[in-house]
Amino acid sequence: MKATALAHPNIALVKYWGKRDEARILPHQSSLSVTLAPMHVTTTVEFGAVEADVVELNGATAKGGEAARVLAALDLVRALAPKLGKAKVVSRGDFPAAAGLASSAAGFAALAVAARAAAGLPRDVRAESILARQGSGSACRSIQGGVCVWKKGTALDGSDSFAEQAFPDSHWPQLRLVVAMVSREEKEVKSRDGMRTTVETSPYYPAWARNAEAEIQPALAAIAARDLQAIGELSERNAWRMHATALAADPPLCYLKPATLAVIHALAAERRAGRPMYFTLDAGPNPVILTDEANELRAVELARACGATEVVRGQPGGDARLVDAHLF
Ligand code: DP6
Repeated sequence: MKATALAHPNIALVKYWGKRDEARILPHQSSLSVTLAPMHVTTTVEFGAVEADVVELNGATAKGGEAARVLAALDLVRALAPKLGKAKVVSRGDFPAAAGLASSAAGFAALAVAARAAAGLPRDVRAESILARQGSGSACRSIQGGVCVWKKGTALDGSDSFAEQAFPDSHWPQLRLVVAMVSREEKEVKSRDGMRTTVETSPYYPAWARNAEAEIQPALAAIAARDLQAIGELSERNAWRMHATALAADPPLCYLKPATLAVIHALAAERRAGRPMYFTLDAGPNPVILTDEANELRAVELARACGATEVVRGQPGGDARLVDAHLF
C-alpha cells in the first residue's frame, strides 16, 4: 500500500484560464502544453500505516488549504478503494517553487500516479489525468510527456475533461524552454483567484475562451511541422491574450514586472537579428523563452542581462512514472 511516482511540470503554450465548474476544476476552453524535463517532483504515498493523514511538502508539514487540496485528492482514491485507511504523503521538488512553473502541476500529477498505485489500482493515464485535474487543473497535462492537450470536455461530471498526449518527447528533442526568473516574490494573486475574477468581471473573457479553443489545431499543426516560428508566434499571442483578458478584469490583474517586459522586448530584437526566440508567460512575472538547442545559451545570457537572478533550462520531458526509491 505504498508507491512513489515522479512527474515533470509543464508549460502551457495555449493557456488554461477560467473554470466553468470550480469544484470539479472544469475549464471553459482546451489548453496545450509541453512537459518539461529534467525538473520533476517525486511523491510517495502510503495508506494504512498512520493514525491520521499527514502531508509533507518540500520538508515542511502542509497546512490549511494546501493540505486540504492533497487530502481531497486522496479522498477521491479512497472512494474507489475503501478501507485504505489514513495516508502519509511526502513530496519533494527539485526546482524552485518561485519559478512559477506551477510546481502544483507536477506535484498533483505525481500524487495521482502514486496514490492510485498505492491503492492497488492499475495504471490508467485517463483516470490519473482526471484525478490530477481535480487537484490542480494544469496537473492533468503532466501525466504524459511530450506535448499534451487538455480537451475541455462537455460532461457535467468531468469524465471527458482530461489531457492526452499529442506528441511524445522524442518528436522535437531540439526544442528548449528557458525560464527567466526575474522575480522570486510570491505572486499577489494566485492563478485560482485570478482566473475566477477574470471569468466574473472581464468583458473580454468570452472572446478569450473562444480564441484559445481555436488555437489548439494551429498549435498542433505547428508542432507537427516542428515550426518554431509558427508555434512561437502562436504562444506569444496566446499569452498576450490571456494577460489582456486578466488586465481587463475588475480589479485589474497585472502580472508583468518591468523586467518581464525587458525580456519580451529583448526577444523581439533577437528575432530581428535572425535568432528564433519567443516567450510565453503564466500568471506571474517570469517569462519562459521558447527557442532551439542552437540558441539556448544565448537565451540564458539574454535572461540574465534583463535581470533574471536564476535561469531554469528545460526541454520536452517524459511521462509521469512509478519509481522504486521511496521517500520514506
Ligand atoms: C496560467 O492549474 O494552477 O498556468 O486549476 O486553480 O489549480 P487551478 O489552476 P492552475 O492554473 C494554471 C494557469 C496557467 C496556465 C496553464 O498552465 O495552462
